[in-house]
Amino acid sequence: MGGQSRFSKNIICIGAGYVGGPTMAMIAAKCPQYKVTVVDINAERIDAWNSENLPIFEPGLYEVVKQARGRNLFFSTEIEKAIKEAQIVFVSVNTPTKTFGEGAGKAADLQYWEKTARDIIRASDTDKIIVEKSTLPVRTASAMERILNANDKGIHFEVVSNPEFLAEGTAVADLENPDRVLIGSQMTETGLKACKEIVEIYANWVPAQKILTSNVWSSELSKLVANAFLAQRISSINSISALCEYTEANVSEVAGAIAMDSRIGPKFLNASIGFGGSCFKKDILNLVYICENYGLHEVARYWENVVLMNDYQKRRFVKTMIRTMFNTVAGKRIALFGFAFKANTGDTRESPAIDVTRQLAEERAKVVITDPKALDNAKMDLQSCLEFVEFCEDPYEAAKGAHAIALMTEWNEYKKLDYQKIYSQMEKPAFVFDGRNILDHKLLFEIGFNVFPLGRVSRTHL
Ligand code: NAD
Ligand code: UGA
Repeated sequence: MGGQSRFSKNIICIGAGYVGGPTMAMIAAKCPQYKVTVVDINAERIDAWNSENLPIFEPGLYEVVKQARGRNLFFSTEIEKAIKEAQIVFVSVNTPTKTFGEGAGKAADLQYWEKTARDIIRASDTDKIIVEKSTLPVRTASAMERILNANDKGIHFEVVSNPEFLAEGTAVADLENPDRVLIGSQMTETGLKACKEIVEIYANWVPAQKILTSNVWSSELSKLVANAFLAQRISSINSISALCEYTEANVSEVAGAIAMDSRIGPKFLNASIGFGGSCFKKDILNLVYICENYGLHEVARYWENVVLMNDYQKRRFVKTMIRTMFNTVAGKRIALFGFAFKANTGDTRESPAIDVTRQLAEERAKVVITDPKALDNAKMDLQSCLEFVEFCEDPYEAAKGAHAIALMTEWNEYKKLDYQKIYSQMEKPAFVFDGRNILDHKLLFEIGFNVFPLGRVSRTHL
């Protein structure tokens, strides 16, 4: 183990999840002069971080971890010891939507966050910088500073905000080459000094013009707003996909046309069954809750509609399936291709496939789920309807005897399957519902499938 003296900074991160693990691994890989320790209460997770089977699937992550692990990157459950030794404490614990009491269903549940603050006070005997890495409601830093600095040990804690913008599936590339790094601090002498210390970390590999500093409230709020704007684009194009299906416009052509306006741009305009992932919905609902708290009801309703449109898109997809399959799916085998909320991750949190499966199970369909990385998580998500669900690693097996394929996740491998072979083993008439518009619809139609894309005219032999 590296002693403190060998390193110029001693950094720890509390929370070894999708953000804490990759973020700290990147800092350690880029900055061998710092000691970086990631701690968690979940011993199983820590064991996995110390093994060859990391607890999350993320392309390129193992190589980054391997490069630094044991040299200046450590994963541990010894939280108190790590806090005691650290000068800088990143906190990246989960901040889910509150499920109880005041604000249930919208506000952020800050219990894990506050617990870490109390752990920090208990274990500390020197001043520290506390970095908000988790996504938090605007003005959390103020509450944190009050809790932390109410300690009776005379220790000063400086809270800075450094939200994370990585997306799953591309976390390593996003961390290596971020669009920006944002660091918010109080505009006091100690606040600005702490901010400078955090800038110094990223400056090891991020160009100076991409490191933004701001006041702490702007930084906290920018994270919620970035996610709200990204999700808003998806809901906007998804709303147009519904209109396209009635007007014979093609949503991809519409998206392509508006994308060429440099003021709009091409990203985040893929129509889909809806956005998933652990954060978009929770962060928008948190924004809605904050607006309501300030009496900004119109602003709250405006953003809430981004989430409502997403729910509508998922329901609409299942309705189309039922309507086109002669108004009943009861007893019919339906193969879901993909369960992860997006490609290149095994994460299924808030995956639209969960809602689609539950709705199909309510209709008493027999849903067969296949996914290259997400089957273990899918099994946990579907505990309430296991009687209607089967899991199958091989997509060909999943589709055998099925009446329909519903494509949920844009995994590249699903584009390359032998659909002629798949068709020959399915019940007829055979249907494909492409929830991501990634398949070759013309070819599928020629094979014999009845094809229902999103926001494009269907191709049917019926
Ligand atoms: P996660 O659930 O994967 O990880 C959180 C970890 O914190 C868990 O391993 C949990 O055991 C640990 N933890 C909870 N309480 C603890 C405590 N008191 N002491 C020690 N460990 C504790 O969550 P995540 O996806 O990494 O998200 C973390 C934060 O980052 C959230 O606020 C989220 O909104 C934000 N965020 C997530 C992403 C993403 O892509 N997942 C991207 C940007 C920001
Ligand atoms: C998102 C943001 O992109 C990150 O910047 C942010 O840090 C993160 O949330 C967070 O705060 O957790 P992530 O959820 O990992 O990242 O993945 P995205 O690529 O944003 O995809 C979210 C969902 O939107 C997925 O279900 C994806 O399939 C869907 N999506 C995305 C579409 O339906 N259409 C698109 O054009 C783009």
